[in-house]
Amino acid sequence: MSRIYRIAIDGPGGAGKSTIAKAVAKRLGIDYIDTGAMYRAVAYKMLENGIKPGDEDKLRAMLDDSEIDFSGGKIFLDGKDVSGLIRTAEVTRMSSECSAVAAVREKLVQLQRNMGKSKSIIMDGRDIGSNVLTDAEYKIFMTATAQERAKRRFEEMQAKGMPAVFEEVLADIEERDYRDTHRELNPLCRAQDAKELDTTNMTIDEVIEYIISEVRKNGDC
Ligand code: DC
Repeated sequence: MSRIYRIAIDGPGGAGKSTIAKAVAKRLGIDYIDTGAMYRAVAYKMLENGIKPGDEDKLRAMLDDSEIDFSGGKIFLDGKDVSGLIRTAEVTRMSSECSAVAAVREKLVQLQRNMGKSKSIIMDGRDIGSNVLTDAEYKIFMTATAQERAKRRFEEMQAKGMPAVFEEVLADIEERDYRDTHRELNPLCRAQDAKELDTTNMTIDEVIEYIISEVRKNGDC
C-alpha cells in the first residue's frame, strides 16, 4: 500500500494551474481539488442572493447553510452542478473580493484541509502550500508573466468564440493579481519550501512531466 501524498500548486490567476493539476491528477490516478472553484461557488451564491462582501452576518448565515462538494470533476453547490455557472466575469470579480473576507476563508480552508486528510490529492489555489496544506509532500509555485497569462486566456476565449479584447483581459489579470497579493488574509505568496516554476516559456506537457518526475523521484508513483 503506497503512502498518502498531497501536491500543492499555487500561483497567480491564468498561470495554467488547473489545466496542469487536472492532467497530473489523471496521470497519477488521484483526486483534483480546485479551490478557486470553491471561492467562485461562494461568489455565485452571494450574487444570486444579493449579498455583499461587507454583509458579515448575512454572509456567515449563508455559509452555514452552504454545501460545496466535488464529484466526477464537477463542483456542486447545495447539490446543484454549478461548474459552468461560476466562470462568468462577474463571478470571477466577486470571487476575488469575497476571498478577502475572513468568514469565507475560514469555512473554505477548513473544508479543504478535510479533503486532503484521507486520500492522495492535488490541490491548486493561492494559499495551499503556505496555509491550507503546509505539510504537503510536494509544493509548486507556478508563475508566468502577466502578458503571457493574458495571452493564454485571450487565446482560450477566442477559441471558445467568446468576445475578448486583449488589453481588457490583461487589465483584469493585473487587477486580480494586485488584490490576491495585497489582501490581509493569506495573500498569494510562495511558501518558503515551494519550488518556483516559471512557465512563461514552457509547454503544458513540460510542466506536467516536471511534476510527475518529482513525484516519481520519491517513489510515490
Ligand atoms: O483560481 P481562480 O481564478 O478560480 O480563483 C478565483 C479567486 O479565488 C481568486 O481571485 C482568488 C481566490 N482564491 C483564493 O483566495 N485562495 C485560493 N486558495 C484559491 C482562490
